[in-house]
Amino acid sequence: MIPHPLRYLTSFDARRDLHLFTDILIIGGGIAGLRAALEVPNDLEVLVVTKDSIRESNSAYAQGGIAGVMSPEDRFENHIEDTLAAGAGLCQRDVVELVVREAPQQIADLIHWGTVFDQENGQIALTREGGHSHRRIVHALGDATGYEVMRAIIAKVKATPNIALRDDTFTLDLLTANGVCVGAILWRKDVGRILAWAKQVILASGGAGMVYRETTNPPVATGDGMAIAYRAGAELRDMEFMQFHPTVLYVAGSARYLISEAVRGEGAYLRDVTGRRFMLDEDPRGELAPRDVVSQAIFRTMERTQHPNVYLDLSHLDRQMVRERFPGINRVCKSFGLDITRDRIPVRPGAHYMIGGVRIDKTGRTSIPGLWAAGEVTSSGLHGANRLASNSLLEGLVFGTLCARGASEAARQQPRPVQPLRLRHTVPPSASHDPLDVADLTNSLRSLMVRKMGIVRERSSLLEAKQNVEFWCRYVLRREFHDRAGWELQNLLTIARLMIGSALEREESRGTHCRSDFPQRDDVHWQRHIICPPWSELSMEAPIAPPTGNEP
Ligand code: SIN
Repeated sequence: MIPHPLRYLTSFDARRDLHLFTDILIIGGGIAGLRAALEVPNDLEVLVVTKDSIRESNSAYAQGGIAGVMSPEDRFENHIEDTLAAGAGLCQRDVVELVVREAPQQIADLIHWGTVFDQENGQIALTREGGHSHRRIVHALGDATGYEVMRAIIAKVKATPNIALRDDTFTLDLLTANGVCVGAILWRKDVGRILAWAKQVILASGGAGMVYRETTNPPVATGDGMAIAYRAGAELRDMEFMQFHPTVLYVAGSARYLISEAVRGEGAYLRDVTGRRFMLDEDPRGELAPRDVVSQAIFRTMERTQHPNVYLDLSHLDRQMVRERFPGINRVCKSFGLDITRDRIPVRPGAHYMIGGVRIDKTGRTSIPGLWAAGEVTSSGLHGANRLASNSLLEGLVFGTLCARGASEAARQQPRPVQPLRLRHTVPPSASHDPLDVADLTNSLRSLMVRKMGIVRERSSLLEAKQNVEFWCRYVLRREFHDRAGWELQNLLTIARLMIGSALEREESRGTHCRSDFPQRDDVHWQRHIICPPWSELSMEAPIAPPTGNEP
């Protein structure tokens, strides 16, 4: 079969390019990727590649913690029910049960590898977050759980002889032959393109928050893993479900800094510009309702008050507790002249977590033989239409473990060594060689997504977004770029297109997907997943015409 002309972002030729061989290739160095690496038996060689420094992952920025049933007052059934309730009818119960029951052991493994979780009276301290019926979130360094967990896990990985770590290594595409994943095309500034051949590949490259201008995610979160899996033919689903975190610091000049949900877990109030505590009008759980409920309530409040943000109020809480529990948030707010124990903190929702992604089964297997996936890049069935707070690091740990087990077993059955295949590909020449302002286009896309595909969407603005993104795709996806910014833009456009298409298709409101023209949840028609159309079906060949800005 002749591959789609835009199947690969780069031209390559296996007869000329550099080659590299490993048993298991892991793409991504966040919690899912590194947990996977640690699960591979030491007689198999593992290569972990990350496009930036190993410290730059969404996992390292996680503040709140890891959810797990850790106290005698709590039960697995409670955590399962809370996850299902937050997921608004789209969670897969068997996956929820599997992940929840694994949590205590995963937390114990992290402690064994050197993670120091916060303590209270000689026990692991537990906090609450939105949607949780019990205190069950373990945390570290107050509000820097991801930093501490990643510190310990990176140290463990570096001390493990069969794992090689290569940072500053961008993955352009997955290599497939006869529908089987056989490796990936990598790129490093110092040596250029490398064809990495692996018996099995694990994708753990994280999320896509950078598709929005307002996001809690670091700049690396450009949806590369979803895009490369999609181009390789993997099934993606539920791309309309982007979770918006309710409380992102909103002061001019600040990066969109997350203010952890644990702040509300410890008792903070949300107030509108007039000082009214509005969440109690919206939901009996008040500030501790699940994230979709709180974000949408904040959106409506900002519209009603015609004010660009709401406020978090901690002034009624014990000052010493607040400073000790949230040292990072305190430091950042202080740098903007805000005292979190007295001043109201201006916040608004921002894109936080991509719920949709590469479909995997209960073992972490994708729809492409030889390709496994774990963490935010996936759609595992755990989160449904809205992820419960602090279930994401947990998901990365559990599925990182599971797919490493499956991939290792499969790799053992394959003969050594991996043979390079005589593959090659030529990107068709682009219509234009004029330089493209990649930064400008990336910013335009990110603004468009906030305006037209934000917390609340409706048909005409989605159609406008679709028309714009398709127009950009037509000339950007046909180009061959030679640097990371260009490839990231191509991936962001690919993801945005899938997100908008799915959001248009789902004519109801459920979880994080809120349609003002279809405000009700409709279980009769929509209690199901939306599968993205295959890459080859998306038309790239339509004539180039600038969008009119009107509904076609
Ligand atoms: C937070 O600290 O609010 C983020 C935790 C999460 O996304 O689960």
